[in-house]
Amino acid sequence: MHNGPRTGLAAVSTALLAMSRRLEVRDVLRTIVVSARELLDAEYAALGVPDDHGGFAQFVVDGITEEQWRRIGPLPRQHGILAAMLHQDGPERLADVRRDPRFEGWPPGHPEMSDFLGAPVRDGEETLGALFLANKKGARGFTDEDEDLLSLLAQHAAIALTNARLYERSRELTIAEERSRLAHELHDAVSQKLFSLRLTAQAAAALVDRDPARAKGELQQVAALAAEAADELRAAVTELRPAALDEDGLVATLRNHVRVLDRAHAARVTFTCDGVRALPATQEEALLRVAQEALHNALRHSGADLVEVTLARRGGGAALRVTDNGQGFVPSAVRRAGRHLGLVSMRDRASGVGGRLAVHSEPGTGTTIEMEVPGG
Ligand SMILES: Nc1ncnc2c1ncn2[C@@H]1O[C@H](COP(=O)(O)OP(=O)(O)OP(=O)(O)O)[C@@H](O)[C@H]1O
Ligand SMILES: [Mg+2]
Repeated sequence: MHNGPRTGLAAVSTALLAMSRRLEVRDVLRTIVVSARELLDAEYAALGVPDDHGGFAQFVVDGITEEQWRRIGPLPRQHGILAAMLHQDGPERLADVRRDPRFEGWPPGHPEMSDFLGAPVRDGEETLGALFLANKKGARGFTDEDEDLLSLLAQHAAIALTNARLYERSRELTIAEERSRLAHELHDAVSQKLFSLRLTAQAAAALVDRDPARAKGELQQVAALAAEAADELRAAVTELRPAALDEDGLVATLRNHVRVLDRAHAARVTFTCDGVRALPATQEEALLRVAQEALHNALRHSGADLVEVTLARRGGGAALRVTDNGQGFVPSAVRRAGRHLGLVSMRDRASGVGGRLAVHSEPGTGTTIEMEVPGG
């Protein structure tokens, strides 16, 4: 590894490339430590990433067996030489670390180390970690070149670590977005089915002694609703459109949904449709979801005995209207933050497909939800 400048350069370049190719922080740390130990011909190498509580969030070592590592015990704290490395600007070379005034002794099971080279890993003002090497092979001790090389590795380690952190952060963001999408899907589709299912099961329980035949009918309805809930759940999780939309189109899907609700709930629920043509898939899905939530709200909150759904052609697009004759509410008084997802989700769905949503409601007059989509 040290038999000529060309091989040396090739080895360094290989190490740097390996570092920058890693995307996970843990892998980056490993690659840095292994490369540093090999390139600098040391017996031991370690990289510590400090936490905010005087310890290390991560401490990766190379040259120590698993068994030795286990025997040493918990991760080191930031003190002695380790702490010093985190707080200084450049590398530090010691002929014998044990003679240094900052040396505080080895924990039990720690291998004996003498010559020592360490450098902070810094990104501007921020200290990301510290990189250490011990026991240069061949008892020559670390050299000036070793010191330069370690500084170079530490600089690249800083870049690789920062990139890996950004990558992990962006993935967390994607996961957070995914979680919020799933929450909306589950809210809009699955929880409504479960709500109807619960009511139908209660109806069956109430009927079972008095009228077993009708109870049996309700129980069949329970089974059907459970199957639909399972389908919706699968669609939400796999990010599929509701299968019914693909198979039957919006009008038939909506008509069927209304029929199910009409049977499951005490209120009468009706559907009328007027000259609607097929719409772009995303707009159909948005209309279906908004209709579902508007229906759900009407059945759950309004106390209405009539809920009417209409779908009509509007220019090249369509207009959906869900009206109940229930108690109404004050839309501006609904707290935007907090547990109420429905109205927010309906607005998001409408604007997500270039459509508009209007909520007309007043205490005492019932509620109308209107949504328009532009069409293809
Ligand atoms: N059709 C309606 N009739 C009467 N009140 C309604 C109606 N629709 C909504 N509301 C009122 O507006 C509030 C907010 O509705 P929204 O759908 O945003 O949340 P939610 O239904 O309470 O909870 P979630 O939809 O998240 O399960 C409801 O809690 C209810 O008080
Ligand atoms: Mg709701």
